[in-house]
Amino acid sequence: MAHKPSLRPLEQAARLAALASYSPYSQFPVGAAVLAESGKVYTGCNVENASYGLCQCAERAAICTAISAGERKIMAVAVYTPTRKPTTPCGACRQVINEFGPKARITCVCDTDKRIESATPDLLPDAFGPESLT
Ligand code: THU
Repeated sequence: MAHKPSLRPLEQAARLAALASYSPYSQFPVGAAVLAESGKVYTGCNVENASYGLCQCAERAAICTAISAGERKIMAVAVYTPTRKPTTPCGACRQVINEFGPKARITCVCDTDKRIESATPDLLPDAFGPESLT
């Protein structure tokens, strides 16, 4: 069986990222961290807006930061919410994760020992992606 590297540091980065969350409307802070192919970690938090529809999710904030730094492939994503049960990425975030990490490991952690470990194809089966256009 292939060795699975520990994603604990990525989870820790997601926990830290949530501290910067701007979520005065939902009071629902989210932190995300992505591990890019280069080995670097990029983080993001949710950023809300008085015009509610403009709220940005943590996962997409982290991915946009990675892509803006020149990354093109995402190996793993960690999501943290200060809740009793883990929160999985919303549909829009799943689609964006799929664009850069169609096989990415996705780990969702919270303030209890509960965790959800999955991968992009589990959360977005039969995805529409870049290859769908060819
Ligand atoms: N949120 C995320 O940051 N990621 C998700 O995958 C689900 C939702 C944020 C958006 C909004 O700021 C708050 O959580 C409540 O929906």
